[in-house]
Amino acid sequence: MIRISLAGLVGLTAALFAYPQPKGEDKKPFGGPKDVAFARKVWTRMKNYPDWELHSDVIKGQTPHGKWVKIYSSWIRVDGKLFPILVKDNFRGRGVSPKRIQEDRGKWLKAVTIMLKRKPGYDKENQDWFWAKFSPDGKLVNNPKGVPLAGRVAKGSSKGCISCHSQADGDDYLFSNDG
Ligand code: HEC
Repeated sequence: MIRISLAGLVGLTAALFAYPQPKGEDKKPFGGPKDVAFARKVWTRMKNYPDWELHSDVIKGQTPHGKWVKIYSSWIRVDGKLFPILVKDNFRGRGVSPKRIQEDRGKWLKAVTIMLKRKPGYDKENQDWFWAKFSPDGKLVNNPKGVPLAGRVAKGSSKGCISCHSQADGDDYLFSNDG
């Protein structure tokens, strides 16, 4: 007869689903005070991103981001350290078109999503990316439960930034460089 102790089973399940958080970081995978504070600093350091040299044209977006998107990349310095970052403008609205976005970017910009590569160990199961979603004025956007979208967003869930981006070609969590 096989006897499974309840405590053992609970322990096993917990081990499977609870990802160990790196030392000195928030307990929750995202939306905790440290991730929120980091995201705010990132915003102040990336503010001039529309002027960055490396960027795409306005290109057709796929779900869930925007009808049209524009991707920028650079390095920014936060707390004295340099981090590579990708920023994405997400445009939508009735009548939106690349021409109209060129004419009046602010009118169509609905959200700004970012991925920034943190130091090794921040999220080693997911290549140490830090995720955040801002409104065009730089406020963090919350999920429907009121949790700010900043950090290891939706780690462990089958939906959200990490799970979708983990399916990008080349196993690099990036879609824009897929062929
Ligand atoms: C259902 C899939 C999906 C989800 C969920 C998702 N993305 Fe994306 N993301 C994409 C795709 C596809 C692209 C390529 C450009 C496009 O089509 O918008 C992309 C592009 C990006 C880029 C530009 C770099 C790249 O990969 O090309 C950033 C930055 C980004 N997403 C951030 C986020 C953040 C932050 C979240 C969560 C708040 C998120 N994404 C959620 C599918 C997704």
